[in-house]
Amino acid sequence: MEVIRTVPGLRAACDTARAEGRTVGLVPTMGAFHDGHVSLMRRARAERDLTVVSIFVNPTQFDDPRDLVAYPRDEERDLHTADGLAIDVAFVPSAEEMYPPGVAEERITVDPGPLGDRFEGTSRPGHFRGVLTVVVKLFHAVGPCHAYFGEKDAQQLFLIRRMARELHLPVEVVPCPTVREPDGLAMSSRNGRLTPEHRAAAGCLFLALAEAAELTRRGERDAARLVAAMAREIGATPEARLDHAAVVDEETFAEVRTIDRPARALVAARFGDVRLIDNLLLPAP
Ligand code: PAJ
Repeated sequence: MEVIRTVPGLRAACDTARAEGRTVGLVPTMGAFHDGHVSLMRRARAERDLTVVSIFVNPTQFDDPRDLVAYPRDEERDLHTADGLAIDVAFVPSAEEMYPPGVAEERITVDPGPLGDRFEGTSRPGHFRGVLTVVVKLFHAVGPCHAYFGEKDAQQLFLIRRMARELHLPVEVVPCPTVREPDGLAMSSRNGRLTPEHRAAAGCLFLALAEAAELTRRGERDAARLVAAMAREIGATPEARLDHAAVVDEETFAEVRTIDRPARALVAARFGDVRLIDNLLLPAP
């Protein structure tokens, strides 16, 4: 595996591969790999010729500086994992490489539109602007490719797909299923920061989503009832503080009132100072 730390170096490696007729797969990450990341890398490896994983803890998507400082980092272990998966290139840039010097407020950024201020964006102002900005930089550095993202971050996935389409980026976004712990908890780099009590309680997120799915399967069509059921499940867990529960249209990410088309349930809650999110596609009506 080649470790590349500069944008021109990454572009050259990807251009060379394409010139040889090879396809390129990109897996953007912030490192601290778990089985969710591994599933994305395996999938890209299986489907494309040259596989690139990027590891960059993007400062501009952290609205809370304490969260940025506390974010787990283990470059050596991550490189070892990626190498073991036969990844071809690890792109590990410095903050200066991704964000050339300048006044933060004067930088060119990608506007996520009104959806950037909803759901996750309500609790994390500026988060999706930071995500889209770093992802468009990665897409430009790599060039035409397939890029693999987890459904775990459904709103992020939705906004990145919309950005790729609306900005005519030569990137095909590939959604990948959420990898879960045995109790249903979605794998996340933040899970390791939970106390044992909070870890045990965090299973309530998936229980809430599973209950919404079960109600839908039994014929419930009123989204407000599903939201209430999810809020009740999480509210019954004393260690959890509900942030939001919602049901959105799978095609538009707008909140729905009636489940009469593909819809996705979303939840977010805090366990101490760790904020977790999850979502589930509801069974078809
Ligand atoms: P990060 O949280 O490291 O996640 C990297 C990728 O792994 C994302 O596409 C995310 O959706 C996916 N992922 C995380 N947990 C998963 C799980 N349990 N199952 C399946 N996939 C999972 O998301 C980011 O980094 C950043 O915002 C990034 C897109 C890299 C931009 O900085």
